[in-house]
Amino acid sequence: MKTVLRPGHIAIRVMDLGAAITHYVKVLGMVETARDEQGRVFLKAWDEHDHHSLVLREADAPGMDYMAFKVEDETTLHDLAKAITEFGLDVEWVSAGEHPFTGERLRFTAPTGHVFELYAHKGLYGNGMPTTNPGIRADDLKGIHPSRFDHCALIGDDVEGSYRLFTEVLGFDLTEQVVDGDEKRAVFLSCSTKPHDVAFIQGPVKGKLHHMSFFVDSWAQVLDAADIIASNDVPHEVGPTRHGITRGETLYFFDPSGNRNEVFSGGYIWYPDRPTLTWTVDEMPKALFFTERKLNETFLTVVT
Ligand SMILES: [Fe+2]
Repeated sequence: MKTVLRPGHIAIRVMDLGAAITHYVKVLGMVETARDEQGRVFLKAWDEHDHHSLVLREADAPGMDYMAFKVEDETTLHDLAKAITEFGLDVEWVSAGEHPFTGERLRFTAPTGHVFELYAHKGLYGNGMPTTNPGIRADDLKGIHPSRFDHCALIGDDVEGSYRLFTEVLGFDLTEQVVDGDEKRAVFLSCSTKPHDVAFIQGPVKGKLHHMSFFVDSWAQVLDAADIIASNDVPHEVGPTRHGITRGETLYFFDPSGNRNEVFSGGYIWYPDRPTLTWTVDEMPKALFFTERKLNETFLTVVT
């Protein structure tokens, strides 16, 4: 186990808070856990124990405010603050309690222009089942009901820089990459045994969200998710289909503000002694959509 444990939360901007809550609660099936005096809404996926993994904030334009990773403990958090500073980035501390039930957060901007946070503590909310003799599923699941917030794919103009930060400083492994000669066009990075916890894709701008992804337990549940988005007239983009990269089973659609959501299952188990997989850019269609082997126009151009 590494010192950075896993994705902890993503904070996004939505243009109509009511419509976003309906989407993330009714269609996705997430659980609302709090609202604060700033008007932010905090949610979690059903099988997450910590208080929240998604934060919604009403704003004039969609996109991602920040993505956070939970780290092992306070010592790790302060060690990483020093290492990030030595890497050459400014760090900022956000006070404990600024997010409900959450300890102090370390904030910095990666070379691709994305704001990240690290934190060590977040209060337990529970997953609807006891931790002794727990059972296997909560009994009030709604909508697609992914078990967790899984990863983000982020577009930015310095993939090499963010790759170096995440591998050299934060201890992530490079599980897969898309290369154009010597240039990294996309990197898939894991701090765990998942095929990715975050991905960076080369683009002409800084700080864009390509998609946020939620994990479901099976290919069958991805198919079920497709029925649920159709029944709710949610804008559909791609799938259900298969990724070459990660081998995951996938479905893409948009929230009411145009933030891209993914529902994802499968993928292999990553161990740090597994070799990095490399796709050449000419094989990009197959790397992205293994079944169709065709690129999708909106998938390459629409970001928030
Ligand atoms: Fe994804």
